Amino acid sequence: MALRRGAKEFGIHIMVCSNDRHATHFVETARFTLEKAALLYRKLGIKVKWIDIGGGFGTPYRPADPWLNINWIGEKISKLFIDFAAQYGWMPKLMTECGRFVTAPHGILVNPVLHVMQKYRHFIGVPAAMTGCPRPAFYKSYHHIDVLNHNGNLRRGPRHFTNVVGPKCEDWDRLTAVGEERLLPWSIKRGDILVTGNTGAHCHMDGNYNFRLLLAGVLDQDGTNKNTILIRKPQKNWDLFRQTIFPKGKRELLKKLLENS
Ligand SMILES: Cc1ncc(COP(=O)(O)O)c(C=O)c1O
Repeated sequence: MALRRGAKEFGIHIMVCSNDRHATHFVETARFTLEKAALLYRKLGIKVKWIDIGGGFGTPYRPADPWLNINWIGEKISKLFIDFAAQYGWMPKLMTECGRFVTAPHGILVNPVLHVMQKYRHFIGVPAAMTGCPRPAFYKSYHHIDVLNHNGNLRRGPRHFTNVVGPKCEDWDRLTAVGEERLLPWSIKRGDILVTGNTGAHCHMDGNYNFRLLLAGVLDQDGTNKNTILIRKPQKNWDLFRQTIFPKGKRELLKKLLENS
């Protein structure tokens, strides 16, 4: 039908699933789409210009999760395309959309511990929870949390079931999902640093939900933690009102109040 209507260029787009760490699934997806390309060529003479196997390349969110063997996937899929070319004398371009795979492991959320509270449950309060890493709130996903003491050393020792929560009056404002209690060092103290891993993908909301201020962004230029530069200034209270239209004379008053707060 597309041919009859004059389409001249054809491509195949597919996506296996999200955050998949089974290397064979990507190879089988490529095989499946190449079979469809071969079918279109044999039946209709269509030379599919590109095959896009989408995203879904998974990353290890838990320390014990194995990495997806991307080299093995590359080798296997290359072979499929080379075999296709040997048979038909041409081959489509291969495209992927592996955003999470590239970015997720390269972002971390750094929070100071502001509160430690033992009530009917053990709570750790941090300034940025769902506004810095929304995945646990959106779909209860796991992000690994390391605890550093004030000297920057990993806290070890006995662990306790812990809820890591943000400042908002929202049950979902958490870094450990609702219903999940995480075994974290019992000795966590105010002033410790919580490092939440794998926040480089699907964690950047850039919004002021409930008047939360946007966080500072720091780039570790060579992965050594020694050459870091500030790439985004933290927002200040006044930034939230810059575009607000005030009654005459009130703008400067509020600005002064917030800048001194
Ligand atoms: C068509 C398509 N491409 C790419 C992506 C993103 O994939 P990833 O999470 O692996 O970056 C999605 C996410 O659902 C998608 O639907």
